Amino acid sequence: MKAIVHADKNWGIGRGNSLMFRLPADMKFFKETTTGNAVVMGGNTLRSFPGGNPLKNRLNIVLSATLPERNDCIIVRDCPQLFNAIRNVTEGEVYVIGGESIYRMLLPYCSQVLVTKVDAEGGADTFFPDLDADKNFTLASEGEEQETNGYKIRFCKYINNSVQPLP
Ligand SMILES: NC(=O)c1ccc[n+]([C@@H]2O[C@H](COP(=O)([O-])OP(=O)(O)OC[C@H]3O[C@@H](n4cnc5c(N)ncnc54)[C@H](OP(=O)(O)O)[C@@H]3O)[C@@H](O)[C@H]2O)c1
Repeated sequence: MKAIVHADKNWGIGRGNSLMFRLPADMKFFKETTTGNAVVMGGNTLRSFPGGNPLKNRLNIVLSATLPERNDCIIVRDCPQLFNAIRNVTEGEVYVIGGESIYRMLLPYCSQVLVTKVDAEGGADTFFPDLDADKNFTLASEGEEQETNGYKIRFCKYINNSVQPLP
């Protein structure tokens, strides 16, 4: 299992249950990386998508105590159900796609984190854990700086040196 996220200089990831920046190059990378795979998210992240709809061409697994059942994604109600749903994925990889509560919960079980670092401050109210301050994580690669929609971004990869098995 891997996590994928874009974060600002302060590891901020969102504000007002929305993204802080429009980053076409990152959206392309996210789509290419996750298409054909399973994506795991929290209820707020699903609600933040256009129309509150899941992502196309991906198996969407959503942790929510409150959202109604629907047939275009798997809604799980608690952590044991979530871990079962992840274990039951048979095709492709599993990507944890947010938001903060889900990243924090699943980070110990992720072997890699794909972080798009945005050289900006977005006034976030939700954050990713600071991987540079976490002894379990090593920055394995840092891409060239590139510009998208006026923002400087870098595609980075962190490796988890202490991956935990799913409980
Ligand atoms: N920068 C990025 O790459 C990125 C990616 C994704 C999201 N984001 C941002 O992150 C922010 C949202 O983060 P968030 O932490 O507020 O939301 P979240 O993690 O997406 O969802 C939180 C929700 O998940 C459900 N949940 C969490 N733990 C649960 C548990 N143990 N049992 C049952 N349900 C549980 C609850 O859903 P219910 O309320 O439905 O019961 C809870 O309200 C937004 O601003 C979004 O845009 C950023």
